Amino acid sequence: MSAAAAERRDIPVAVACEPATVDLAAKGLAKSLGGRRILDGVDLHVRRGQAVALIGPNGAGKSTLLRCCLRLVEPEAGSLSLLDQDVMALRAAGLRRLRARVGFVFQRHNLVPRLSALTNVIHGAQARRAGPRVWLQGLAHASVREEAMHCLERVGLCHVARQRVDSLSGGQSQRVAIARALMQRPDFVIADEPVASLDPAAGEEVMELFVDLMRRQRTTLLYTSHNLHHALAYADRLVALRAGKIALDAPANAIDAADLRGFYA
Ligand SMILES: Nc1ncnc2c1ncn2[C@@H]1O[C@H](COP(=O)(O)OP(=O)(O)OP(=O)(O)O)[C@@H](O)[C@H]1O
Ligand SMILES: [Mg+2]
Repeated sequence: MSAAAAERRDIPVAVACEPATVDLAAKGLAKSLGGRRILDGVDLHVRRGQAVALIGPNGAGKSTLLRCCLRLVEPEAGSLSLLDQDVMALRAAGLRRLRARVGFVFQRHNLVPRLSALTNVIHGAQARRAGPRVWLQGLAHASVREEAMHCLERVGLCHVARQRVDSLSGGQSQRVAIARALMQRPDFVIADEPVASLDPAAGEEVMELFVDLMRRQRTTLLYTSHNLHHALAYADRLVALRAGKIALDAPANAIDAADLRGFYA
């Protein structure tokens, strides 16, 4: 559905936000890669505590946009405020501190396969403190270990805490990755296709758990998905990216899957 079609159906193409409650504000964000304009003046606001699903076809620039938010990919133009920080003005130390406040969950979990689930979750504390006491569970303070066990409990995995990650199923591994993100005590979570590598049943279960945990602790969430049900059912708001621009920005309950198919045509 085009922006014009959205307007005809009274679907807002932009959602107004009170400036005081905005966690992420991107304006005119632009990025070219391989000689091609990938982001072409993206304006995006995410309110505190909101869950926003970012959709769009392969190559639309979703992952690039997520990475630009933390300058993992350097934007060429535009302004960017995240958690009240002027991201483009930050130097290395400030950027490190900001990144520590943001949890990142990827399609592939990026866990250390030969280490236990518990140790991998403890690694989430590296966002807050450095040194060997957050490298291995045997070296960790009891309080850190307890918190990591609590995070594993929240994703229903206490019983595999001591098991190596390479012996876990895909669904269990992705839950460990979520527990590691919780351990970070993030203020904002960015998730790039967090359940894309899971089978439909595991994907549904993990997605529901993930969004529920974020809501319970009122963490702002920006995630991408190619699963329209996951975008519509779990987000407050849905944003579609096409040809490097925001083509739709609407409350998730104002649209349905049929409205969105046009974005993939
Ligand atoms: N380092 C790079 N060098 C050149 N081109 C790149 C680079 N990274 C990404 N691209 C291109 O940028 C475009 C957008 O990529 P991006 O990964 O952001 O898309 P996406 O919307 O996340 O797609 P998908 O749904 O497949 O994950 C693609 O055409 C991709 O090939
Ligand atoms: Mg992507």
